[in-house]
Amino acid sequence: VSPPGPRSRRLGDRLRDVESPAFEARREARAGVSGTPHAPIVYATAAGSNVIDVDGNRYVDLVAGFGALPLGHRPASVQAALRAQERKLWLALGDVYASDVKVELCARLARLFPEPGARVLLGLSGADAVTAALKSAVLATRRPGVVAFTGGYHGLSYGPLAACGLHESYRAPFEGQLGHFVSFAPYPRVPADLNRTLDVVRRMLQSGRCGAVLVEPILGRGGCVVPPHGFLRALRAACDAAHALLVVDEIWTGLGRAGAWLASAEDGVVPDLVCLGKSLGGGLPISACIGRGKVLEAWGARGGSALHTATHFGAPLACAAAIATLDALTKGRAAARARTVGERFRKRLAKRLAGLGVREIRGRGLMVGIELEGGASRALAVARGLLTSGYLVVTGGIAGDTLTLSPPLTIAEPLLARFGEALRDVLRRHP
Ligand SMILES: Cc1ncc(COP(=O)(O)O)c(C=O)c1O
Repeated sequence: VSPPGPRSRRLGDRLRDVESPAFEARREARAGVSGTPHAPIVYATAAGSNVIDVDGNRYVDLVAGFGALPLGHRPASVQAALRAQERKLWLALGDVYASDVKVELCARLARLFPEPGARVLLGLSGADAVTAALKSAVLATRRPGVVAFTGGYHGLSYGPLAACGLHESYRAPFEGQLGHFVSFAPYPRVPADLNRTLDVVRRMLQSGRCGAVLVEPILGRGGCVVPPHGFLRALRAACDAAHALLVVDEIWTGLGRAGAWLASAEDGVVPDLVCLGKSLGGGLPISACIGRGKVLEAWGARGGSALHTATHFGAPLACAAAIATLDALTKGRAAARARTVGERFRKRLAKRLAGLGVREIRGRGLMVGIELEGGASRALAVARGLLTSGYLVVTGGIAGDTLTLSPPLTIAEPLLARFGEALRDVLRRHP
């Protein structure tokens, strides 16, 4: 049936009556901007790269839980690990008494860091990992200031929100409760931007107040913007010169999404702290802040008074899912596949969509941004047209004009090829 079907509508209405009205208000605003309805579908089941809604409509999922399903929905090996763990232990005692799977996961994550001797703090969400990094930075440097970037997104709990450079409107209503420790530099989009950005960053670091630079190697929600070559290396050098820490938020880019285990390592950079989330749990909520041993040792220097913990941090079910996910990503050479499949996909899209009002197709690996002419209104109308054709996509970018794709790293290439045809047809209908 044409989505949303009657069951989706009924459930959507029920949710609207009980959920925070923010999301319905956003849907109405989107409907107003795009001139197309924005009533939601409701998911019922999913497998691999497919989602089926409560009306029985089947979709190709090019969002995959906002990039948190690198192996698609319910991958068999993660499901098996969850079943095995479900029979053994659901919850240990976090930071007091760990579970065996938490120990194993922390060891695996420490080995993932590009330098030996790394240490790990686990969390539930990406925002938790960024919070852990911000706290670690101030403990290690005793300088609370942070340099972040316009267009950057690090989560919406208070620490990361203060560093959110994506939309002013995310911060504005909470200004009175927000820390004011962040200075924003422009994220470079083209080589000509690089020197200006680096001048701004260096000046901010020279103030002596900033102990860290927080950066995404590729802007995710900011619209899949790949910065000019050498950006991260130059940030590394600027941080070294100022004795500040480089904190790389790889919550979106990491674990193969951008075609490498860590996009920063691909750029030849060893960060002081790396944040991982999204992909890590294969669909379960878990995140990590991993850092150089000598930086994270700062947590031990306070006689145990500085702690970062929560009831469900390092929950055994999520740890078991994460270990199985890391295994499957390694075994399936997911990063290399994402790199070659993503490259081919972008090239084919560029050919197929020529002359249809597409400003730029960008990204790395299976992180793909399709920036449209016509602003947010056209992007929203096109995303809705794709939903009706059976494809799930979201819009992103500072102006909201970019279709942002983060499909499962395992997605079959014919599905991507068919998506290109569907997008071509929808763009023709929305010139
Ligand atoms: C780069 C980046 N950092 C942090 C976050 C926040 O993660 P979470 O939504 O799990 O808190 C996101 C979420 O989209 C992200 O893209």
